[in-house]
Amino acid sequence: MSRQWMIRAAAMLLLVTVTPAAPPAAAVAGARAAALPYQDPSLPVATRVSDLMGRMSPDDKLGQMTQAERGSVSAGDITAHRLGAVLSGGGSAPSPNTPASWADMYDRFQNAALATPLGIPLLYGVDAVHGHNNVVGATIFPHNLGLGATRDPALVQRIGRAVAEEVSGTGVDWNFAPCLCVARDDRWGRTYESFGETPELPSAMATIVTGLQGATLNGPASVLATAKHYLGDGGTAGGVDQGDTRLSEQDLRAIHLPPFKAAVERGVGSVMISYSSWNGAKLHGHQYLISTLLKGELGFTGFVVSDWNGIDQIDGAPGASAHDVRTAINAGVDLVMAPTGWRQFIDLLRAEVQAGRVTQARVDDAVRRILTKKFELGLFERPLTDRAYTATVGSAEHRALARQAVARSQVVLKNAAGVLPLARTGNKIFVAGRSADDIGMQSGGWTISWQGSPGNITPGTTILQGIRNTAGAGTTVTYSRSGSGIDSSYRVAIAVVGETPYAEGQGDRPGGLGLDAADLDTIATLRASGVPVVVVLVSGRPLDVAAHLPGWHALVAAWLPGTEGQGVADVLFGAVQPTGKLPVTWMSGAAQQPINAGDGKTPLFPYGFGLTYDPPQDDTTPP
Ligand code: BGC
Ligand code: BGC
Repeated sequence: MSRQWMIRAAAMLLLVTVTPAAPPAAAVAGARAAALPYQDPSLPVATRVSDLMGRMSPDDKLGQMTQAERGSVSAGDITAHRLGAVLSGGGSAPSPNTPASWADMYDRFQNAALATPLGIPLLYGVDAVHGHNNVVGATIFPHNLGLGATRDPALVQRIGRAVAEEVSGTGVDWNFAPCLCVARDDRWGRTYESFGETPELPSAMATIVTGLQGATLNGPASVLATAKHYLGDGGTAGGVDQGDTRLSEQDLRAIHLPPFKAAVERGVGSVMISYSSWNGAKLHGHQYLISTLLKGELGFTGFVVSDWNGIDQIDGAPGASAHDVRTAINAGVDLVMAPTGWRQFIDLLRAEVQAGRVTQARVDDAVRRILTKKFELGLFERPLTDRAYTATVGSAEHRALARQAVARSQVVLKNAAGVLPLARTGNKIFVAGRSADDIGMQSGGWTISWQGSPGNITPGTTILQGIRNTAGAGTTVTYSRSGSGIDSSYRVAIAVVGETPYAEGQGDRPGGLGLDAADLDTIATLRASGVPVVVVLVSGRPLDVAAHLPGWHALVAAWLPGTEGQGVADVLFGAVQPTGKLPVTWMSGAAQQPINAGDGKTPLFPYGFGLTYDPPQDDTTPP
């Protein structure tokens, strides 16, 4: 009997002794259901797992290793095929898309899993990569690149906790986050999912794992985190999504491994494999990197999940083949995300096991890892949604935290003649630009839909609204999207411009990182008035602005702030002093890509750069 178990048993005894009239609900459920050892929450997890595995059929085990997409699976399928996991892909949501209907959907799927002979609960996974971003009304936090600019791991941990509460309130127990990629080439369309270009910055921000998972996995509102995408996703040649990372092992380890090591040290429950290759070899089939390095050397005891149809790419032919399946599982993949092709995956894996090309021992290891996390999460005791958290989705408290993170993420790159901070009172401000009054634009990809989109996609405060909210007595704020209508009577013009939302490969820009033509027109219109121009860049990465910068009085990198645009205004008016520092090197021109700290190239602004200013003397009171 382990020491931990003895302490736990003693604690339970104490609970029962001191509160005989009202034992905690979990204890009651445990006592009632503890007919079999695996159902007994007082037993150590390893004992419960072994007991359960001894009762499982071969098909029960295959089902545990399989994850289907919600739109391609019915509750009946889950029961019949013993599926161990379901996911929502980007933008895949129940109708209506409300927190309560997410919780209802989750409970429906979960009850279908509980209806199997052994009643093994399922894991439901989502990409809550900057808040619970598939859910209308959720708090949308800045994307990771902005969080990297805050240089504040404690703040990022608090954000992880807030996200976990919102996710828990919809039942979901597993988050495909954080992306711990080290983005080395800004042409990559996933650069904004990175906390920054140095190994140190994403490693420091692995605190978000602790925020998501909580102090212990079976604590309140704990959500299983995923360190992704292992390994070298941000280092591909040319910044090509799902491309090839050509590095020596020494460099791969030095640049891309540290954040994963940090996450493993924090007990991250799962690791997702990258679509990319290392020196031509697909990560999804890479036994050395998955089994020898991650599970062996780093001592990762959680489970490894494949990316969306990721194993299909191993043999280079479309769709899953027997070769794909055995190579991935033998390399060390434990749970396979087979969103639509889950039946075929199960059939292929069954045949590989029967033929002896995948050993039963490997299957058992995979299932043991998955079940261990389910037990640790307390899913056997509390399988259904904890609706106490449903009202936290988009709560005022979480939005206040997001606003603070937005303000802390702003990086002031230029501020000529002290045009910033803006005076709150007696000012005459003109605001323009495609990104000024658009929640979708300021949220970017992975927001309500997979790719994200412009428009009023979810409740929040636009940057323009934030500016209007902050303007004080005697200040007028005039807005025109294109900049038309400005004249020389204004004291300052703010152009809020940047990138149109994108995700994954659709954001790759091999041809350059220039500003959008409409944005350049808007800025030109403002400049023609002679009014000082402040450019606020709403983008997923540095853009190629060097040639235009001399004509701008100020430049602020706002990244992709999410729903709380007030945080941008807080910094523009100096209600919050700017402290953000560049999480990536800012190129002098697109031809410099890739450009990173320490590579000897001369940037426009170096990694870590960021100006500050004092709050205005006259009107410091925040609204
Ligand atoms: C992405 C992952 C994501 C998964 C599930 C993939 O296309 O690369 O980051 O977790 O889909 O949506
Ligand atoms: C994404 C999913 C998305 C799907 C759409 C995947 O690559 O990761 O989240 O819904 O593509 O086809």
